Amino acid sequence: MLLILQLLLALTLSIRTGGYYHYTITECISSSADLSDLELIDTYYFNKIPDVQFNSTVGKYVGFTEVGEKQAEVWNSGPELQQMKAALERYCKPNRQIHSSAILEKAVKPVVQLMLDKHASGGHPALLMCSAYDFYPPAIDVYWLRDGKKVTTDMISTAEMADGDWYYQIHSHLEYTPTSGEKISCVVDHASSKEPIIYEWDPSLPESDRNKIAFGASGLVLGIILSAAGFMYYKKKSSGQWR
Ligand SMILES: *[C@@H]1O[C@H](CO)[C@@H](O)[C@H](O)[C@H]1NC(C)=O
Repeated sequence: MLLILQLLLALTLSIRTGGYYHYTITECISSSADLSDLELIDTYYFNKIPDVQFNSTVGKYVGFTEVGEKQAEVWNSGPELQQMKAALERYCKPNRQIHSSAILEKAVKPVVQLMLDKHASGGHPALLMCSAYDFYPPAIDVYWLRDGKKVTTDMISTAEMADGDWYYQIHSHLEYTPTSGEKISCVVDHASSKEPIIYEWDPSLPESDRNKIAFGASGLVLGIILSAAGFMYYKKKSSGQWR
């Protein structure tokens, strides 16, 4: 039984390696919003090697191999050429416009988190971190205000980082020496909002620290209750034994 299975596998493999692979890739390429640079590229491949290609900017088919050159000649003198030229308007333009409005013109607002990233230590000032998550498109401006004025020093930002799911994230750090009466805020300017959004830094205990304290305190209370219960249980048991 095992032998037969192996034989079948070898047979399929040999058919695959002996096969031919022919495919076509049609591309509508543009990098401007008004589509003035729209280009149609239609490429025919045989076993991964491009044979013949239509490029709408060139306006005709061009062959890359001997067979491809012959094919280009045939298509350039037949009805195919006019059809391909018309395809730029008929096929690329409407599809590209659909994609523009469905994807490129969409904007998703970032989720912004402003927190203390590092406490001051060993002569280094503390670091504030302003993070924007899950936004689209990637173009974004994250900056800091100190008493309403844009901060230009003591700050550093990462690039927009792709999450791999169309969304992006970015992180900006500011060196921070708490000064009484000073107002610090992080500003996020993104296509998802008409106006830049200002997030003010609250110098009272940050939430993460508050959470840590709350967590520690609950642990302490729980510990006291449990050890008291254990102690009482022990007391009861041992007094019972003595009786
Ligand atoms: C199409 O042809 C134009 C003009 O020669 C050239 O600039 C462009 O790069 C070509 N496009 C592609 C995808 O090869």
